[in-house]
Amino acid sequence: MSEPDIVVKVLVKDFDHGRIHALTGLDMEVAQGEFVAVTGPSGCGKSTLIHLLAALDEPTHGTIAVHGQPLPSQPRQLDHYRRHAVGLVFQLHNLLPNLSALQNVEIAMIGTGVARRAQRKRAQQLLDEVGLSGRTTSRPAELSGGERQRVAIARALANNPPLLLADEPTGSLDSEASTGVLAFLQSLRIEHNMTILMVTHDPRAAAAADRTIRLRDGRIDTEAVEVLT
Ligand SMILES: Nc1ncnc2c1ncn2[C@@H]1O[C@H](COP(=O)(O)OP(=O)(O)OP(=O)(O)O)[C@@H](O)[C@H]1O
Ligand SMILES: [Mg+2]
Repeated sequence: MSEPDIVVKVLVKDFDHGRIHALTGLDMEVAQGEFVAVTGPSGCGKSTLIHLLAALDEPTHGTIAVHGQPLPSQPRQLDHYRRHAVGLVFQLHNLLPNLSALQNVEIAMIGTGVARRAQRKRAQQLLDEVGLSGRTTSRPAELSGGERQRVAIARALANNPPLLLADEPTGSLDSEASTGVLAFLQSLRIEHNMTILMVTHDPRAAAAADRTIRLRDGRIDTEAVEVLT
C-alpha cells in the first residue's frame, strides 16, 4: 500500500460548548488512490468528519494530515487548501438556483487565476464527462436530482483536486442514477488515482468502494471492523 494520503489521529469535535460530542477520538488512515466508503447511523459524525477534512471547521482536539501535511492554519494557505487540495460534494447539493449548470461549475474557478475562456472550457469538459453536455444552460430546478448531483461533482472537480470528499452523493438518487454516479467516481479513482472518501447509507454504494469504514458514536466502530475482517 502506498503512503497514507489522509492521516487522522484522535480526532475530537464538540459542538454547543462541549454539550454535543460529534467526534470522540477518531483514528483513520486512507491511502493515496483509495476509494473509501464511510458508513454509520445518523448522527454518528460522518458529515462532521468530512467538514473537518475539508477545513471548513476546526477540530476540538486531534490532528489531521492530508497529502503529507497537517491542515494549514493561516488564512491564505487555508484558502488554497480548500480550493485546490480537496473537492467537496455536500450532503445537500448546494447549487446556486439562479445559475446555469455551466455557471455552477465555473464558480469554483473564480479567483484561481485561470483565464475566463479556459474556465468555460474546463466547465464544459467536466459536464461532458458527467454526461450533461446537453444541459449546460439548464438551471438546477430544471434538472433531476441525479443530474444536479452530477453538476455538484463536476464543480468539486473543477480545480483538479487530488482528494474528493463526497457526503451522500447518491443519497437522493434512484438506483439507475446512483449507478451512474458510482461508476463515475470509480473512473476517477482508476483514471486519475484520486483518493475518494464517500459517506453513504446505501450498501450498494459502499460496495462500489475499495473499503468501508464504519463510524459509531463519533469514532471507528471496531466491532464492525472485526466482523468484516
Ligand atoms: N453545527 C453543529 N452544531 C451543533 N451540533 C451539531 C452541528 N453539526 C453537527 N452536530 C451534531 O453532531 C452530531 C454528528 O452530526 P453529523 O452531521 O456529523 O452526523 P452524520 O453522521 O452526518 O448524520 P446523517 O447520517 O444524519 O447525515 C449530531 O448529533 C449532530 O446533531
Ligand atoms: Mg451527514
